[in-house]
Amino acid sequence: MSSAPPDARHLPKAELHLHIEGTLEPGTAFALAERNGITLPYSSPEELHRRYDFTDLGSFLELYYALMDVLRTEQDFSDLAEAYLERSAEQGVRHAEIFFDPQAHTSRGVSIGTVIEGLGRALDTSEERYGISTRLILCFLRDSSPAEAAETLASAEPYLHRITGVGLDSAEAGHPPGPFRDVYRRAAELGLRRVAHAGEEGPAAYVAEALDELGVERIDHGRRALEDPALVRRLVEERVPLTVCPLSNVRLRGVDTLADHPLPQMLDAGLLATVNSDDPSYFGGYAADNFTACAEALGLGEEQLRLLARNSFLASFLDDDEERRARYLAEVDAFRF
Ligand code: ADE
Ligand code: ZN
Repeated sequence: MSSAPPDARHLPKAELHLHIEGTLEPGTAFALAERNGITLPYSSPEELHRRYDFTDLGSFLELYYALMDVLRTEQDFSDLAEAYLERSAEQGVRHAEIFFDPQAHTSRGVSIGTVIEGLGRALDTSEERYGISTRLILCFLRDSSPAEAAETLASAEPYLHRITGVGLDSAEAGHPPGPFRDVYRRAAELGLRRVAHAGEEGPAAYVAEALDELGVERIDHGRRALEDPALVRRLVEERVPLTVCPLSNVRLRGVDTLADHPLPQMLDAGLLATVNSDDPSYFGGYAADNFTACAEALGLGEEQLRLLARNSFLASFLDDDEERRARYLAEVDAFRF
């Protein structure tokens, strides 16, 4: 008889791959639509939820961008972040590095200031209210032009005190990282940290290209890096963190079932892998839900879960607050399942 998997709900963890727009729950979408006088093309939150049956990244992104139409005001963005923090506090999250997609809002006439100030309003008091430290990472849409990314970065300059880094997301296949090298160089000049989605649907070569051309310090997803053993050796040697999103990979059909997920192989290879939720409203689970689902489906034990939690803090951009990182790591070590 197999014993119950360890309970990782309250295991202290950092979430490093989380799109704030992907936390928009169906009920919240309806509430915001009503507040903003928008009629959604679904009869109810339940009907909307039934549409979360994705065939690939593209089919998800279509709904993800469409539903953002309900986000219009600073209050909307603040409420969105607030709901995420409240949920995450119940999931053992102690530190969150949060992605946002400014171009998905500015293209609809919502200013970047509205987005950042709205998110910032909730994040400013996150520590006092939820015990969660936060960072913001501005993502460029790779299926829009590098020139537009550069304009977006320029428009964010008045808000740099709120931004820790830049990322690259949206449709990956056919959109390699290389063309974004100039905007990443500019981001580095501005003192921003650099990450990029790579190896989610795109090939292992995009992972190497993100390292070589963009100078990224972490790879978001990186699952397909496993197809290239030399690249895996490099990622291990250079201690490049991977922000893996297991439930996302299943829902977007990168892997058939969670039991097929290569997370254990990643850990065995010595990769600095972390577990994250990506777009939790759409993919069926927040941070701890991903830990728990992996523990069940992959048979992860206490030591592997603790390693994943340690990795999350080691991979975080807490270099500006090493005391805090040490405190979080000590919390992980002291945790009893
Ligand atoms: N934007 C939001 N979620 C994403 C994902 N999983 N991949 C690429 N871009 C995204
Ligand atoms: Zn993502």
